[in-house]
Amino acid sequence: MYSEQLKSKTEHINNILTERIPKDTGFGKICEAMSYSVLNGGKRLRAIMLLEAFRLFSEDNDLEKLLAEPFVTAIECIHAYSLVHDDLPAMDNDVLRRGKPTTHVAYGHAMGVLAGDGLLNLAFEKVSSIIDNNLSDPCYIKRVLKAFNILSTKAGYSGMIGGQVLDSTEKYTDALKVPGYDELNEVDLQDADIDKLKYTLRIYELKTSQLFEAALMCGAVLGGADEAAVFSLEEAGRSLGLAFQIEDDILDMTSNSETLGKSVNIDEKNDKDTVARMLGINMSEELVKLYTAKAINCLSSLGKDAGFLLKLFESLIFRKL
Ligand code: IPE
Ligand code: IPE
Ligand code: MG
Ligand code: MG
Ligand code: MG
Repeated sequence: MYSEQLKSKTEHINNILTERIPKDTGFGKICEAMSYSVLNGGKRLRAIMLLEAFRLFSEDNDLEKLLAEPFVTAIECIHAYSLVHDDLPAMDNDVLRRGKPTTHVAYGHAMGVLAGDGLLNLAFEKVSSIIDNNLSDPCYIKRVLKAFNILSTKAGYSGMIGGQVLDSTEKYTDALKVPGYDELNEVDLQDADIDKLKYTLRIYELKTSQLFEAALMCGAVLGGADEAAVFSLEEAGRSLGLAFQIEDDILDMTSNSETLGKSVNIDEKNDKDTVARMLGINMSEELVKLYTAKAINCLSSLGKDAGFLLKLFESLIFRKL
């Protein structure tokens, strides 16, 4: 039942994307490279979460089409661009993504940079063009602008990009200690370097959680949620992103490239201080469970029927890719 629902929701997202990503020729191969980067598989998790969050607060199908679908396109474009740039030789130098050569391998390095840039701009074009659709109620314009602000901030220099900067340029030193993460007391971390672990989790909160937060928050804002609900979803996205990235590190060490559709052991090759490399698989799995449970708590606190989202969150603990 759940897997059928997931399949049909994923197909729905793929249809939205296929309709809205430009097929135009001209300007060299930019559209081809952009399509290659977005329409090449992918789990569509952020898009699904955005739509599900919208549906928690609104059952209006027309409004979903009008307001939420452009944001679905935008968040998948931004996510895809972040992957295209993440794979560049100057960053993770990866050659395989979603089971195919990475964009810069298929189209050249310059096109890797430009297709990523193109996708980011396309995201903003899709969202801002909502305004052309004769919105009847000015409160919808407010929702769109609020969601636009959340998306651009969380994807930006103090969000996802900020995390990618720390991930690629700032190895942990004592000077980079970060406060917080009291929840780590709930797990027996033995003799782990807790300060280095906290710094690594901070990077994950930025590079990975922020887009999950944006997805859930944008959906909720567009659906008309109040501030308290939007905040709970932000917290849910934070914890889910941490669990998701730690699991991604685990899969890098335990899976194979056929299953994963991307290179494995790349974190070791790039000498990344990942949670899984620091703590080992078992302890990392404990953290995945801890953060997933926190995410589920935040979602449950909404007092809404979030059945599908809850199952989706749970299923990510045991995901294979
Ligand atoms: C990959 O994200 C990048 C990370 C945050 C680990 P996904 O695992 O959601 O990538 P796709 O979209 O399914 O390829
Ligand atoms: C997340 O980290 C990347 C982004 C936030 C773009 P990784 O570098 O581990 O992601 P993968 O493993 O390449 O998908
Ligand atoms: Mg990376
Ligand atoms: Mg990478
Ligand atoms: Mg990874």
